[in-house]
Amino acid sequence: DFEGELGVWRYADALPFEAGVSIDEGGTPLYEVPTIEAETGVADLRVKHEGMNPTGSFKDRGMTVGVRVAERLGVDRLACASTGNTSAALACYGARAGTEVLVLLPAGKVAAGKVAQASLHGARILEVDGNFDACLDVVSDLADRGEAYLLNSLNPFRLEGQKTIGLEILEQFRDQTGDLPDRIVLPVGNAGNTAALYKAFRELVRSGALDADDVPTLTGVQAEGAAPMVEAIEEGNDEVHRWEEVETRATAIRIGNPVNAPKALPGIRETGGTAVAVSDEEITDAQRALARDGVGVEPASAASVAGLRKLRESGEIAADERVVCLTTGHLLKDPDAAAAAGADPEPVPADTDGVLEHLGE
Ligand code: F0G
Repeated sequence: DFEGELGVWRYADALPFEAGVSIDEGGTPLYEVPTIEAETGVADLRVKHEGMNPTGSFKDRGMTVGVRVAERLGVDRLACASTGNTSAALACYGARAGTEVLVLLPAGKVAAGKVAQASLHGARILEVDGNFDACLDVVSDLADRGEAYLLNSLNPFRLEGQKTIGLEILEQFRDQTGDLPDRIVLPVGNAGNTAALYKAFRELVRSGALDADDVPTLTGVQAEGAAPMVEAIEEGNDEVHRWEEVETRATAIRIGNPVNAPKALPGIRETGGTAVAVSDEEITDAQRALARDGVGVEPASAASVAGLRKLRESGEIAADERVVCLTTGHLLKDPDAAAAAGADPEPVPADTDGVLEHLGE
């Protein structure tokens, strides 16, 4: 049973501060998705929709902690590289803190909603002639030279805030079903969430609040065109090898060098999980299926459901499993992808008879 409201700062005991620079992040819904549950035939399926955060992605959970740290340090410029969502969240939280924000985006590869957010919240936006990984190389260098405080997920305080995704999932799933989930399926880009969830569960086990056997199996999903983590899992490598060329419609996870891999690979391996790659078509199909169940997500988020479908088909996920899919960003983040995946508007005349005729009635 919940005592008090859900939200990041409900879990202050597990965080480095009592409170952060906050606009009520966290406390996102855990939805039933009856059609996808029936289709995949798992025992129980829920979707944790992180698109319902203030700026429309899970990044807010990290920024409420990270920007607080920056405030304490007294830095005068915050910066990140981003496929879009991090820049939107940093611009917003930086504005709340009254601190200058600089964001580096891969030119032409960031969804419209995200650039609009960064812009309106007042960030200075640099469009880089290169992919996300190149942007992160540059901004890390700027941070090393003392030019800015880095708020990518390389910053461990970001991941502290993102631990609360895992804590909320356990509480909500038990509240709704009486049980804990067996598995969490999530999209992977830099693998920050994978690392953060694993840390949250390890801390629960160490504190005695969670049985080691009850830690959910972490299952990562990448786009086929940007799948270095999947490659490492499939080949049994201890390290992830950077992909120089990456491409996918799911621009949020168009990443070839998952910087949190050293923390995330053990999370997948030690929970008995796996990683799987899905095609852009499978991602769009899953985005449509989620939308038909009333859950509007951006393409990268739908990768989780696409991965679940694939692993059910291969038998890797069993029919008796209780599963949570993480959807990381809101449909409106990428209006172009949503419009392309949905039906086209039909032009009609401005009179009722004409409309009825068009409808064939
Ligand atoms: N889903 C969405 C919608 C994202 O924006 C991201 C990462 C991920 C998944 C991957 O999460 O890195 O924890 O594995 N977006 C970053 C950004 C890279 O700049 O917004 P991860």
